[in-house]
Amino acid sequence: MSQKTWGGRFKEKTDEALERFNASLRFDRRLYSQDIEGSKAHCRMLAKQGILTKTEASKILRALDEIRKEMDRGVFDETFEDIHTLVEKSLVDRIGPVGEKLHTARSRNDQVALDVRLYVRDAIGRVDGLLRDMQGTLVGLAGKNSGVILPGYTHLQRAQPVLLSHHLLAYYEMLKRDRQRLADTLKRVNVLPLGSAALAGSTFDLDRKMVARELGFDAISENSMDAVSDRDFVLDFLFASSVLMMHLSRLSEELVIWATKEFDFVFLPDAFCTGSSIMPQKKNPDLMELVRAKTGRVYGNLTALLTAMKGLPLAYNKDMQEDKEPLFDSVETVEQSLVVMTRLLGAIAFNRKRMREAVDQGYLTATDLADYLVGKGVTFRQAHEIVGKMVLYALDRKKELIDLTLKDMKGFCGAIEKDVYAWLDPLSCIDRRNLPGGTGSASVKRALSKARKEIGAK
Ligand code: ARG
Repeated sequence: MSQKTWGGRFKEKTDEALERFNASLRFDRRLYSQDIEGSKAHCRMLAKQGILTKTEASKILRALDEIRKEMDRGVFDETFEDIHTLVEKSLVDRIGPVGEKLHTARSRNDQVALDVRLYVRDAIGRVDGLLRDMQGTLVGLAGKNSGVILPGYTHLQRAQPVLLSHHLLAYYEMLKRDRQRLADTLKRVNVLPLGSAALAGSTFDLDRKMVARELGFDAISENSMDAVSDRDFVLDFLFASSVLMMHLSRLSEELVIWATKEFDFVFLPDAFCTGSSIMPQKKNPDLMELVRAKTGRVYGNLTALLTAMKGLPLAYNKDMQEDKEPLFDSVETVEQSLVVMTRLLGAIAFNRKRMREAVDQGYLTATDLADYLVGKGVTFRQAHEIVGKMVLYALDRKKELIDLTLKDMKGFCGAIEKDVYAWLDPLSCIDRRNLPGGTGSASVKRALSKARKEIGAK
């Protein structure tokens, strides 16, 4: 049997190096179940339209199921060009010429577009589930650590006291947007390209809507030339993956910093760290470092496909075969990264004492002191200036604002009263921020129960 589906007009044997270079089975075998699922729907439609007989169709359908079982076991004949050719040839192998009828009214161009759409749709479902798991873990962690305070940073300089739960829920929000981006991507993914054939559509009387229904697509493509050459939906997915990885990378970076002796905010369990082959004392945060670096790899996949697509005239071009490895690699990387990060988050513990000590040093309540002065009738700009001077004064004496005597303070502004000390307590600073979206305990409690509701957690 010829290993090709297109030998007829060729006189010469394909050059061996080209054969290897051109072949995609090595990676597109991952599409086997989508390819078979799509073929079955196409076959049922051909039968309904009278293009295949019922007997022919049931023979084909039965054989496709057998082929799938074999492929489920990892059996693939690697000598074929791509997964579409392999499935078709295996079909003909099993049932003879009837199998050759399956490709009626279809091209590999619309077939591969279909397979990739089904694959991306499945991937979105899995990634969304993993994002939800991670959100659940973050919400659990935020609930477990309610009342823990730490410095919030800007420029990685201590800025203002915040609740740890508030800090953790910031990542919850990022993941929420990641899920929204995927859901939005899905709308454009879930469109049936089959029926576009090579590029111009088909001469057969196809029922495209039936195929769309059978495969769970929301719509059918509107233009055959666009349908076979559109990879925007893959780019959408790669972009959503890139942003998602960027979020995981930021969290990773934060944990790397927090795990240093200098910060010492977080305890990383041994099970999630590795050691050094020379320095016996070392315990390294490799997991987070890998997530950080793999983010670059996922960006690279987006850039690779954007670049592959940018010079392509309509319609299908073989360049588009290069969509698969970046896609598969990103799906795998994103899934693995989400799994390890979620497991890690489920196992870490925070050093509340160190966090609290950090809050008490570095003038984190200075903004609140300025707000206090505004409450006493001083304009904000004046208040800012006064508190700036007070910070400088305290710095010189190696004191915190709360350590200054009332007499000292009054020297800067007569409006300051004894109530300033209670005002400068970090917890009171936090709890004055109970506006929606703020770090106040009541706000965070509301945010937490909203988050639990959103992800259907208890
Ligand atoms: N392996 C090909 C791809 O991934 C399948 C489509 C081939 N079409 C063609 N006209 N050669 O794009």
